[in-house]
Amino acid sequence: MNILLIGSGGREHALAWKLAQSPLCDTLYAAPGNPGIAQSARCITLDVTDHEAVIAFAREKGIGLVVIGPEAPLVDGLGDSLRAFGVPVFGPSASAARLEGSKGFTKDLCTRAHIPTAAYARHADKAAALADLARFGLPVVIKADGLAAGKGVIIAETAAEAEAAIEDMFGGGFGDAGAEVVLEEFMVGEEASFFALTDGRSVVPFGSAQDHKRVGDGDTGPNTGGMGAYSPAPVLTPALEARVMAEIIVPTVETMAAEGNPYSGVLYAGLMLTEAGPKLIEYNCRFGDPECQVLMTRFEGDLAALLLAIADGQLAEAEAPEFSDDSALTIVMAAKGYPGTPEKGGAIHLPETPEAMIFHAGTAMKDGVLVANGGRVLNVTARGETVTQAQARAYAAVDAVDFPSGFCRRDIGWREVAREKGA
Ligand code: AMP
Ligand code: GLY
Repeated sequence: MNILLIGSGGREHALAWKLAQSPLCDTLYAAPGNPGIAQSARCITLDVTDHEAVIAFAREKGIGLVVIGPEAPLVDGLGDSLRAFGVPVFGPSASAARLEGSKGFTKDLCTRAHIPTAAYARHADKAAALADLARFGLPVVIKADGLAAGKGVIIAETAAEAEAAIEDMFGGGFGDAGAEVVLEEFMVGEEASFFALTDGRSVVPFGSAQDHKRVGDGDTGPNTGGMGAYSPAPVLTPALEARVMAEIIVPTVETMAAEGNPYSGVLYAGLMLTEAGPKLIEYNCRFGDPECQVLMTRFEGDLAALLLAIADGQLAEAEAPEFSDDSALTIVMAAKGYPGTPEKGGAIHLPETPEAMIFHAGTAMKDGVLVANGGRVLNVTARGETVTQAQARAYAAVDAVDFPSGFCRRDIGWREVAREKGA
């Protein structure tokens, strides 16, 4: 079977690496891919906003499965367009991808399905939003409804900050994403990510992870797309995972199906582990980046077979996903300036790293030299019997990477390393 993978980041490098290992996979194409993905796939130029062009490519190359990595093409309906021409796709329809594309949609679904989440209000009118603020107390969370590249969430500590955030969103500071806002109660607890795969009817757990969103050591500084992650997240004990499945994931899948809007693909739940139990912060309709890198490092099955079974609506007949008992940890090496304006073009020399896998997130080849071509550039990933061991191996590999215009956090996994020390 020929497979087409859409995307160009570290998440897609991890997916490409696993897909290419499948006995089912003949030729793997990646659009647009990157120099790391090129080790596992044939990288091609394809405008993924031009659905006709993607369909034409899939037909010409006899593509038996399209795997869509990022959220934008999913929310844009690329999956629907391909399925209409009979091409199997891993990834939800545009209508189901509203679980990520509209925060208000997801909150309303939680209400209908009795899913634990923060109290909220949706507002499409600025004056009404301002008038409604007081009842949420402080801090209060203000979110642009639509996709805002991870930047549409403001945690306001004061009323003035909250009002400014609302003014900014309705003033167009987040483009169309801010045409509607969601006000939310601030939840207190530890955050963890949980993944589930579903074909719209059956649903299976697909591992947990924790990431580090802030750019600086000790979880300080501005938010990023994620500076590192590890899997599993031991705070999500088997008992808590069972609750997340029963109280959050299964009701979501069942309600979406019952409402004629079945969700097929990966459901990535951002969770707050509160004193009252796990609550949903948000859904993403794709794998996390860099969470996918640690999941794929632990996944031991045939990824192409599993994703094809989901695309075909046959998850119930597929082998249950199996993961190594090892921990995996990934460190993001970013270009200096990230998350503001990253320095582009810095040269990178990669060593042989037998104990680590280096996924490419934002790289390019220029005159035969590997260079930085984005904010997050490399994901240095290792396994170990403990997070402490995986962390030591990953940092040993980081220290061997020659990337003078790059930087990384030195404390990825600190929470778990501290817990392991205390154990
Ligand atoms: P989101 O993009 O919805 O995941 O939000 C980004 C981050 O904001 C989350 O990872 C949380 O750290 C924080 N956050 C979002 N909603 C809430 C909430 N209701 N209470 C506390 N923190 C939140
Ligand atoms: N690492 C967070 C995300 O993929 O949304």
